[in-house]
Amino acid sequence: MSVAPWLVVPAAGQGRRMGADRPKQYLEIAGVPVLAHTLARLHAALPAARLCLCLDPDDARFDPAWVPFVDWRRVPGGAERVDSVTHALEAIAAEAADDDLVLVHDVARPCVTAGDLHRLHAALVDDPVGGLLAAPVADTMKRDDGAGRVAATEPRAGLWHALTPQGFRYGLLRRALAAARDGGAVTDEASAVEALGLAPRLVSGRRDNLKITHPEDLALAGQILAAQRLSQSASGEPYTAPCGARER
Ligand code: C5P
Repeated sequence: MSVAPWLVVPAAGQGRRMGADRPKQYLEIAGVPVLAHTLARLHAALPAARLCLCLDPDDARFDPAWVPFVDWRRVPGGAERVDSVTHALEAIAAEAADDDLVLVHDVARPCVTAGDLHRLHAALVDDPVGGLLAAPVADTMKRDDGAGRVAATEPRAGLWHALTPQGFRYGLLRRALAAARDGGAVTDEASAVEALGLAPRLVSGRRDNLKITHPEDLALAGQILAAQRLSQSASGEPYTAPCGARER
């Protein structure tokens, strides 16, 4: 297994739930697109990683100047997230070994921290199955009846929010996603691996690793990034600005 992981960043979604005039990865926080923030966070923690960035083949907004990685390639996205990730795995087939670690991270999660990325990577380096960043559910969980009323309260003990990155061995992930695409909808890599009868490791991550999904999330992500930057400078950690960021 190579030490530097592969990084797959699916960024080919349209983000329709945002109701914006452009895909959410191109909405700006502090004058910089979400995509550039996310890549900067990943690069600060894993500078030697080899990146596959999945983009819509018709995407005309993308600017390669936002990519801080030396070793990277653009891969055409697919109809669903699982198709985009599958295209990335196909694109590196000639270079990747079966036991190489592949970390998959949603482009819409710009607030992931170096601390979480390092802990996840360390936890997965020797794990035979792989795993994911996750956060225990804090709220009481309700199931609806399909008509806007509560049908049941679900016990929250043992429930986790699945975050990203999620990391698995290249060969296992390819097999899992191929089986999942035949079998129906999967919204993350871990569920495809679970469907093979394996148990991914849950690595407890920060709750502020928010996925920008709804309109109010953009401002929230901006506040999280600003607060994280302040606490980083208070602790003397260096801050890495996204590529394309204006000095301020
Ligand atoms: O829409 P949602 O937030 O669930 O998408 C999760 C991630 O998958 C995003 O980073 C999005 O850009 C990506 N995606 C993709 N190809 C698709 C659909 C989503 O790369 N066809």
